Amino acid sequence: MQVFYKKKELISFVNAQKEAAKIIGFVPTMGALHEGHLSLIAEAEKTCNLVVVSIFVNPTQFNNASDLKKYPRTLENDLNLLEKQFDNCIIFAPSENEIYEDDLRAEHFDFGALAKQMEGKYRDGHFDGVGTILKRLFSIIQPDKAFFGEKDYQQFCIVKKLVKITGQPVEIIGCPIHREANGLARSSRNKQLSEKEREEAGLIFETLKQVQEKFGTESASSIRNWVEEKFEANNTLDLEYFEIADADSLEPIEEKNNKKKYRAFIATYANNVRLIDNIALN
Ligand code: PAF
Repeated sequence: MQVFYKKKELISFVNAQKEAAKIIGFVPTMGALHEGHLSLIAEAEKTCNLVVVSIFVNPTQFNNASDLKKYPRTLENDLNLLEKQFDNCIIFAPSENEIYEDDLRAEHFDFGALAKQMEGKYRDGHFDGVGTILKRLFSIIQPDKAFFGEKDYQQFCIVKKLVKITGQPVEIIGCPIHREANGLARSSRNKQLSEKEREEAGLIFETLKQVQEKFGTESASSIRNWVEEKFEANNTLDLEYFEIADADSLEPIEEKNNKKKYRAFIATYANNVRLIDNIALN
């Protein structure tokens, strides 16, 4: 399995693949790979001749220095895992300098209302950082398709908007959320949870499933109150936000409209570890 650390070398490799009419898939990651990432790569391998997996903890998308510092970095394990499972995959693991040179700043993008809710509201500048790194990676890797997990559903919507803004010719594909046995959405951050926290974090998906049931008969505001009370009664998880929003515009629900699709979104903290999840409601 080939591992590239320099963009120049990757670009010449990719150019040769493109000349040979190979379809290139891309799975961007920040490493600390788990089953969720592996399922994205497996999905990409189904329709692409070559899958590029990037492993890069992108500093400009963190709005909290200690979160960035403690983000798990497990490159050697990640490479072993990929080597064992995939035949058509190559890795891009650049240094910070390779991507940002001496200018560690995010570009600003006008994502409109999509970036104003939820993650955009609670993680100032986060989506500009995500847009900055993906625009650069898309231009280095030149993928035909890029694969994103729907755990970060808002990010998935933002990336679709990003490629409209930049005009980069890449198809953005969303893939289902991968879950642990108790329903906890797989995330690299789960590694930072104690055993007890990891077990209790099953409450997040359990709540979302109940929200899905209630959505048929109850108002959004009564569901919101119910969720808030449920988390107030729990000593391990602190609710940061719960929102029911239009699945396309991400605008918070006002009145239920049967023609629209809605999703419920949640962000919680378990002892400083931030966990997010979401579910389709109709
Ligand atoms: O979802 C992630 O892991 C990151 O936001 C991404 C897409 C790799 C960009 O750094």
